[in-house]
Amino acid sequence: MDRGSEKRYYVTKPTLPPLDKFTRLLEDIWNTKILTNNGKYHQDLERQLCKYLGVSHCSLFANGTLALTVALQALRITGEVITTPFSFVATAHALYWNGITPVFCDIDEETLNVDAQRIESLITPKTTAILPVHVYGHPCDVESIAHISDIYGLKVIYDAAHAFGVKKNGESILRHGDLSVLSFHATKVFNTAEGGAIIALDEKLKQRIDFLKNFGFADEVTVVAPGINAKMNEIQAALGLLQLIDFNDGNERRKKVANCYTSLLERAEGIRVFSEGESVEHNYSYYPILIDSNKLGMSRDALYERLKEFNIFTRRYFYPLISSFPAYRGLPSAAFDNLPVANRIANQVLCLPIYSDLEVSDVEFIVDTIFKIVGV
Ligand SMILES: Cc1ncc(COP(=O)(O)O)c(C=O)c1O
Repeated sequence: MDRGSEKRYYVTKPTLPPLDKFTRLLEDIWNTKILTNNGKYHQDLERQLCKYLGVSHCSLFANGTLALTVALQALRITGEVITTPFSFVATAHALYWNGITPVFCDIDEETLNVDAQRIESLITPKTTAILPVHVYGHPCDVESIAHISDIYGLKVIYDAAHAFGVKKNGESILRHGDLSVLSFHATKVFNTAEGGAIIALDEKLKQRIDFLKNFGFADEVTVVAPGINAKMNEIQAALGLLQLIDFNDGNERRKKVANCYTSLLERAEGIRVFSEGESVEHNYSYYPILIDSNKLGMSRDALYERLKEFNIFTRRYFYPLISSFPAYRGLPSAAFDNLPVANRIANQVLCLPIYSDLEVSDVEFIVDTIFKIVGV
């Protein structure tokens, strides 16, 4: 039988702890009957994440989108915010839900992140912040972005949904900007089924974030702001504590998968792979490749469709660009001519399956299948 018809390869597969360990924590939650509202698992996960990530303040959230929305509220961001069109749509939606206009900036050819050299030309009197994304966990040009934000007095919120555990020059990438936002969605390398967090550099800001995520309550009778309910519950937090124990092990295994893809694909004509500089400790959350259809003799979309016949379900992250969706395509910054690199990359990118229990033999099968389809 054709091997492709036996096994299904999705772009990712959630990591889960041993069920009996989770059951023990659930039994405790059932006994205490404390299900949410800053319970002991919530407090413990915030502490453990600070320790693991090397950051001083962490506020847990029900999901990453609410965390982004609250991060913008916490810093009182208004007017226009410069961001990338090459991201998951939640990045721009968080701006929209705050009544903020996204201003799309083209991306850098090498990192696929916002092109820091183009930010300055997009600043207007209404600009209050920059919302870059560390796409696929590849660090943004944090130094240039800090330089621009210092000169123009702009806040910086990093959408770090893909960047759990990523370090640059030995330091967490989450220590840059005013705030960084994580997602713990099931598809992320560290997951709590649904979940997220805001990483803050100072205690007062964490306090404001904690008020905002709990309806604005500062104490039992004081509501200091029109907050929202965005709290992570105890079941999610307990799962997170167990996930953290195995994170390093999973990372090592994904690293092997990524290295295997790179060694098999780096010399392939018409396929571009990405490699981190030596200064970056990566989390191997995605394995994007870029297809040059002229050299490969096949378009990205054709390859994506053909791979499905072999049960290999890749994803075209991030196609279509956010700037092409109905809510955003009328914005001046969404014009095709303003975003030449992002538009080209969105038509070339394909994310291959990567997760911790993918074997080297699976990677070989996936790459062999690609070569078979394109006829090399
Ligand atoms: C870049 C980016 N930002 C924000 C989000 C939203 O996170 P969540 O799904 O946890 O709401 C995601 C992913 O889901 C994402 O990939």
